[in-house]
Amino acid sequence: MMEWNELESAAHACTRCGLCETRHNVVFGVGNRSADVMFVGEGPGEQEDLQGIPFVGPAGRLLDDMLSIIDLDRNTNCYIANIVKCRPPRNRDPMETEQDACIDYLRNQVLLVRPKIIVCLGRIAAKRLIDPDFRITRQHGAWVEKNGIWMSAIYHPSALLRDVSKRPETFDDLIALRAKIRELGCQM
Ligand code: URA
Repeated sequence: MMEWNELESAAHACTRCGLCETRHNVVFGVGNRSADVMFVGEGPGEQEDLQGIPFVGPAGRLLDDMLSIIDLDRNTNCYIANIVKCRPPRNRDPMETEQDACIDYLRNQVLLVRPKIIVCLGRIAAKRLIDPDFRITRQHGAWVEKNGIWMSAIYHPSALLRDVSKRPETFDDLIALRAKIRELGCQM
């Protein structure tokens, strides 16, 4: 396990997969490194790649709005990262091999943050972190405890931009997340 400075430097210099050839910036993570609540997306999009910060494009604005509904804020009480730290070309899904090459950075981030809760944003993160057979339509909002961390998944904000009919269910999932945060006495 590496400490933050070493880990971030290693990620910024990473050439473990082909995504390093097309990236503008490594998108490491953002937020409170001691937060009790962590969010994990799939990988950077265009704006994230250009700015080096997770969820700063259209989906990111929606994510910030979703967080604010339950008094979460990326700069104070949560930490946000991705399965892969470099943008897949044209925003395609990150390949299994790319996820494999990158996942140890996320593992190390989780070990350092020590969150009580991890919320996967979308099916790619849910499949990787919760269950390879995870079905987001059926299992969003469900909670499982793994290695002492409470885990769930909600629809990816990009999916909510494409399909507003998923928003009411996501609102319910956010309210359930707030209940879990209170139940576990998370630092807010
Ligand atoms: N989508 C993601 O999954 N992650 C980001 O950082 C931005 C968009």
